[in-house]
Amino acid sequence: MIRATSQAAPGLRDYRPAEARLVADLLRGLAERPKRLSPMYLYDSRGSRLFERICEQPEYYLTRTETEIMRRCAGDLARSIGPRALLVEFGSGASLKTRLLLDRLPDLAAYVPVDISRSHLLEAARSICEAYPRLEVLPVCADFTRPFGLPRPSRPPARTVVFFPGSTLGNFDEAPAIELLELMRLIARPDGALVIGIDLVKDPAVLQRAYDDAAGVTAEFNLNVLLRLNREFGADFDPRGFRHAAVWVPEASRIEMHLESVRRQSVRLAGEAIEFAAGEPLVTEHCHKYTPAAFAALAARARWKASRSWCDDLGRFSVRYLEA
Ligand code: AVI
Repeated sequence: MIRATSQAAPGLRDYRPAEARLVADLLRGLAERPKRLSPMYLYDSRGSRLFERICEQPEYYLTRTETEIMRRCAGDLARSIGPRALLVEFGSGASLKTRLLLDRLPDLAAYVPVDISRSHLLEAARSICEAYPRLEVLPVCADFTRPFGLPRPSRPPARTVVFFPGSTLGNFDEAPAIELLELMRLIARPDGALVIGIDLVKDPAVLQRAYDDAAGVTAEFNLNVLLRLNREFGADFDPRGFRHAAVWVPEASRIEMHLESVRRQSVRLAGEAIEFAAGEPLVTEHCHKYTPAAFAALAARARWKASRSWCDDLGRFSVRYLEA
């Protein structure tokens, strides 16, 4: 358990993937056509901070809208979740929206934030401890797309509820999204539940602006992945040789974040030369947008039962409560 004052992180469970696996994964993605990187690499500590700034941009309606919905439905959600639950948040980031739930769940058995960015996770866990001194907080540093061990809280929980806000599910293609929903169902067990935020299909111009804000924060966030590959994996990307693009792909119902090579160039990573043609994209993230029916079909394939849902007045975003 992390206490508000602790500097180290005695309670941290650290399941970060080994570097060799990451290098193999990076080279595999760079050998695909189009070249791809897992969005996981966007979230080093600078990337996580930039993502928080994205959430504050006027064009990025997702966070504001979801927060507004959560404010309205937190009481209903808390009643559905019930007493003494174990709340497991996937991709917890700064745990900001979680507070809306924690405020309504005073007798939670424990809160388990799970995130790949260790420094960010610990910072968020400490600040939750400060704000909720009676709550047991058990952080897990992990790539949440792979099975990880759940810490055991001191008080036995009545049930497990997975919290997955922000429409992060949209960053997964169909098959991995179903696998992730299945993994969540296994973690929640038969009497558990899932609270998930889903971004809905809308005017592509609104989407495009949300992923290419005027202040250039999303561009900085996207380009930051190249700095990370240089620093952590000895690559030699020249960030000035790439430009950020947000591309709406209607047939896949998604925005794609690209880094477009501005010239023909060769980059080295882990001893391999990677050739880029002028204008060639490196795909760094898929951001799927769902119709309510498309999401219901996806969830049903992972055997989640839709129970309740809430939406904003403009029908931009939806928060859903599903049962395992
Ligand atoms: C984390 N995820 C839900 C964000 C999204 O909207 O797909 C990531 C993001 N990428 C660019 N802007 C925000």
